[in-house]
Amino acid sequence: MSKEIRFTDETMALVQKMIKRYPEGKHKSALIPMLHLAQMEFDGWLDSPVMDYVASILKIQSIEVYEVASFYSMFNLKPVGKCLIEVCRTGPCWLLGAEDLVKHIEKNLKIKDGETTPDGMFTLKTVECLAACGTAPVIQVGETYHENMTCESVDLLLGEYKIKDARKTHYDIKHISIK
Ligand code: FES
Repeated sequence: MSKEIRFTDETMALVQKMIKRYPEGKHKSALIPMLHLAQMEFDGWLDSPVMDYVASILKIQSIEVYEVASFYSMFNLKPVGKCLIEVCRTGPCWLLGAEDLVKHIEKNLKIKDGETTPDGMFTLKTVECLAACGTAPVIQVGETYHENMTCESVDLLLGEYKIKDARKTHYDIKHISIK
């Protein structure tokens, strides 16, 4: 039997605060922050039933949610490993060596961009600008930015995540507060 898709009471309280930020009839504007919460709450990715659930709360069509979730690279539309390695692929990072970093990680983890290691530990994903272009190339792992990366520092980074509890690298919903 499939698990019921439902925000915890704490998360639903955050959702209600988000929705109240927008005028009556403009609640759809809460969609992107809601998708972030949904991704945090439901194992780091947005399955179709999760997006349908978000649509039902905002009283919009599911397709409107799918369109937004599939446009932005920060949303995951398939399961990800405990440790999601996001490498910026936008111009400044690419020019300063991000392509080499991606190839290096692919070789180290024996996976391609978009894939997860068979043990479910690592997912490699290339993403759009992480807004830290001044310290390119940049890699994001969970809540942490790693800047001015080189193949050597990538090896150190992967080594660290291989030995620590990578679950802690995912965004933690407890860190979210809305006034
Ligand atoms: Fe990579 Fe902006 S281009 S952080």
